[in-house]
Parts: sequence; C-alpha cells; structure tokens
Amino acid sequence: MNWNPLSKRKRRLERLAEPEATRTTADEIDQMPRDGSSGRKVYRRILRELSRDGNPEQNLASFVTTRMDQHAGRLALECIGKNLINSAEYPQTEQIHQRIVRMTADLFHAGRSGENGFIGTTTVGSSEAIMLGLLAHKWNWRNRYRQTPQASPKDQPYLVIGTHAHACFTKFARYFDVAVKWIPLQPGQLSITAEQVRAVIETRISDDPQVMKECGFTQEEAGERKVGELVMAIGCVLGSTYSGSLDDVAGIDRILTQGNWDIPIHVDAASGGFVLPFTQPHLEWDFRLPHVQSINVSNHKYGLVYAGLGTLVFRHGGIVPDDLLVDVPYLSGEMRSFSLNFSRPSNSVAMQYHAFLTLGKAGYRRVMRECLATARFVADRLAAMPQTQQYFELVSNPDEMPVVAFRLQRTPGRLTLDALAEALKRKGWIVPVYRLPANVEEVEVMRVVVKPEFTRSRAKTFLNDLAAAVRELTSEAPRTVAAQALDAFRNVCAASGPATERDGAC
Ligand SMILES: Cc1ncc(COP(=O)(O)O)c(C=O)c1O
Repeated sequence: MNWNPLSKRKRRLERLAEPEATRTTADEIDQMPRDGSSGRKVYRRILRELSRDGNPEQNLASFVTTRMDQHAGRLALECIGKNLINSAEYPQTEQIHQRIVRMTADLFHAGRSGENGFIGTTTVGSSEAIMLGLLAHKWNWRNRYRQTPQASPKDQPYLVIGTHAHACFTKFARYFDVAVKWIPLQPGQLSITAEQVRAVIETRISDDPQVMKECGFTQEEAGERKVGELVMAIGCVLGSTYSGSLDDVAGIDRILTQGNWDIPIHVDAASGGFVLPFTQPHLEWDFRLPHVQSINVSNHKYGLVYAGLGTLVFRHGGIVPDDLLVDVPYLSGEMRSFSLNFSRPSNSVAMQYHAFLTLGKAGYRRVMRECLATARFVADRLAAMPQTQQYFELVSNPDEMPVVAFRLQRTPGRLTLDALAEALKRKGWIVPVYRLPANVEEVEVMRVVVKPEFTRSRAKTFLNDLAAAVRELTSEAPRTVAAQALDAFRNVCAASGPATERDGAC
C-alpha cells in the first residue's frame, strides 16, 4: 500500500484542532469574541479550520484556476491593499488594467480600441460581465424598437438563449426584468443551432402563446409582427457549463444577416474564450462575425488566474448607452463608471498581467493543447479500462473543450454516479454529478474539468481511483468495515496535501 502519509505538521495541526473544538461551543464560534487574540494564534486557528476544506487541486468540479506561479502570488500580496476603482491614485495599476483588457480583446479580433473601436472592462467574473453586456443590449433595444412605428407599449424585451446557459442568465432576466425565450437542447445535441434560433425569431407573435400571454397582446395588436422584434439579444455559449459544448455562433450570425435582423449576439465565452483562440484559431465565433456585439470571458478560468476576474468587451463604444455610465465625482479625478460592483482588489489584474507575460501566446497555446490532450486521455481511458469500458458513455467532446462529461449506460451492483462520486470523495476527489437541462434531463452525467493543474500523472491517479471504486461498487460483496476504515483514513491523508501517485499503474 502506498498512499500519501500525513505530514508531521498536518498531524500536529489535527491534534491541536481537537481540544479547540471541545472548548468552543457552536454559539461562541458565531459571536465576535469579547477580547482579541494574537494575530499569529488566530492565523493558526483559522488555518486549522480551513484544513477541513476539500483540496482545491483535487477539485475537478470547477473551471476556476487553483494553482499559479509563486511569483504571481507574491505580486498579489504586493497590491492587495490597492483598490482598483481608485484609478487616479493608482495610475500604473490602471495602465496595467487597460493593457490586459486590450490583450484579451485582441484574442477576440476586436481590432483597435478608441473612438469607433472596441471598449472593455474587467469585472469580478463572467456573471457581472454578462449582466453588464446584456444591460447595454436591453437599453439599446428599447431605444431602437420604441422608435419604430409598429412598437406597442405592451412590448417587452426578450433574451433568446439555450437551456444550457449558466444560471447568471436567469439571474439577469429576473433581476433586470427581461423575458426569456429558452431554446431546448435535443437528445444527442447539447448546444443550440441556427435553425432553432431562426424558428424563434421568425415566428409570428400571434403564433407564440408564451409571448402573447406575457405581453398581453390581442391577435389584432400582434398583427403580422414577428418575435424577433422583441428580441434584445441572442446569447450564445462557448463552452457550456454542462458539457463544454459550443453553440453555432457563425450559423446564428448568418441567419440574422439573411433575415436582415438587427439583433446583437452576446457570446458567453466564460470558459472557451481563452481556449479556442489557441486551439481553434480559425473557428469564427468572435468579432469577426458582424452580429457579435459583446463577449465575456472568465480570466479566472482558462485565463489562468485565481478567482475574481472576468472581462467584458464590446465591439465598439457606441454600444454602451450613456445612461449606463455613472459619473463618480468623489474619487480624486473625475471618472465615469460602468460596473455593477464598485471597489475591487487590484491583485487579480496584476496576476493576469503576470500570466500573460510569463506564458505569452505560445505558452497559452501549449497549456491549452495539453489540457485538451489530458481530457482526451481521460476519455479514452474511460472507454478502454477493463473496469469501466462497458459502463460509461462520453457525452462531451474533449477535443473541443477540456471537459469530460460521461453518463452510465448500465447500473450493475451498487454502481450509480452518486455512489461513484461518494467513493471518489473518500479519496479526496471532488467530482459533480447532475442532470442535463430540460428536454434532456433524463441524462445524468459526471463531469471532469481538466485544468492545467490536473496533470497527466494526476489524471492517472484519478483514473486508478475511479477504476477501484467501480470494481468495488460492481462487486457482489459489500465493503468490509476494515475497507471503510481504510478509506476514511485515506480521505484524511488526501485532505492533508496534494494528491500523489498512490498507484502509478493506470
Ligand atoms: C458558461 C459559463 N458562463 C458563465 C459562468 C459564470 O462565470 P463566473 O463564475 O466567472 O461568474 C460560468 C461559470 O462556470 C460558466 O461556465
């Protein structure tokens, strides 16, 4: 047996944690203490408590970066006290901020910045970026359609999006009072197609019971108008959260041109925005397409920085209505703000700049290709390992995005995806299990997100753990008490440090 033993330090911390837990009641923990304590003591106490969290490097559920170069971490500490919003006080930080926006926009073929060129900003993540982008489109729709002769006071703005969209689209619709035309996925097709979008926008309002009801039109009021007139934006997802699937942005752009529709496309490239420019540079999904008016990306995903940074880029400055720019006179130096958030630490910006300069385009290309190769490796091994081959079916395309989502074809013995996730959790791995969205909800999947820190050797360890769990769950004999105790012990080991090569033969 060859698992990672607890380090001495960790063991000491575990021991220290015990009396602490018995000394402090749950109620006391939730109260601010009457008196303070030394910073060092408190630091150690919090660290001890945090050691019970999952190990970020075994978290295969999240797209968010869990490991960066140590110099990036040091830089982050250097600027943790600088508030990004204070651009007049920290002009050099602001310069760097603008540079990373330009470098990101360049990946999306945004052309030049400036008067008629693109504008962009960073955000706390893609959710904020998506909401800001869609808000601009909502404003523009109002200005555009309210001025057309056929407009009615009953008109409501609609967002057209697939049901695989991230929850932040639902938040946007609810928080900012926008109706949604959801496009369902189909069995075997986990993205939306141009034909589906065409069917929505070309339908007469009078033939669409949802729009008739929500807007309260009579048949006469609806007349010959089409649903497309009410559409403020079409959202396309590049790298869906469910399976990494890519919507057909170029096809959707084409049908808008063919139908002479003046409808903007917002591309949610939260996860794909730093992958596709390097792995499929000829795939057109960005500002090379005329209807793509705004794009968001999560820098903290494949931009390779820790959590807290996204970017929003608009094709040109005219898309952001003046109404949404708020004057902020109380900072030194007048400024206009376009964000949902105000104060933000500037360390993410410094770390992103560090990653851009250390990796360069060649480095990102290499890293993204490696992620795809590891995803393909995991998918192939799942299909080839004697313990797993007859059970799993791949539902994602790991050659497009480094995401391996798979379903169970059969459920022999005690094997279910939930039981498998539980068994993997005992070895420290965090792997989500969920159902696909409406219309394909009978498909339950387990998903592994491959990030650079999930190296080939780590992938082998994971696959070995997965194969062992499958063997165990499909065997007739229930697990012995001794085996359960062993797993519990291994779990403690895994939580105490990064995964190691417990069993190299995958
Ligand atoms: C496709 C997609 N869009 C948006 C988001 C939200 O991104 P963030 O966490 O950066 O706010 C995610 C997060 O996983 C995502 O996968």
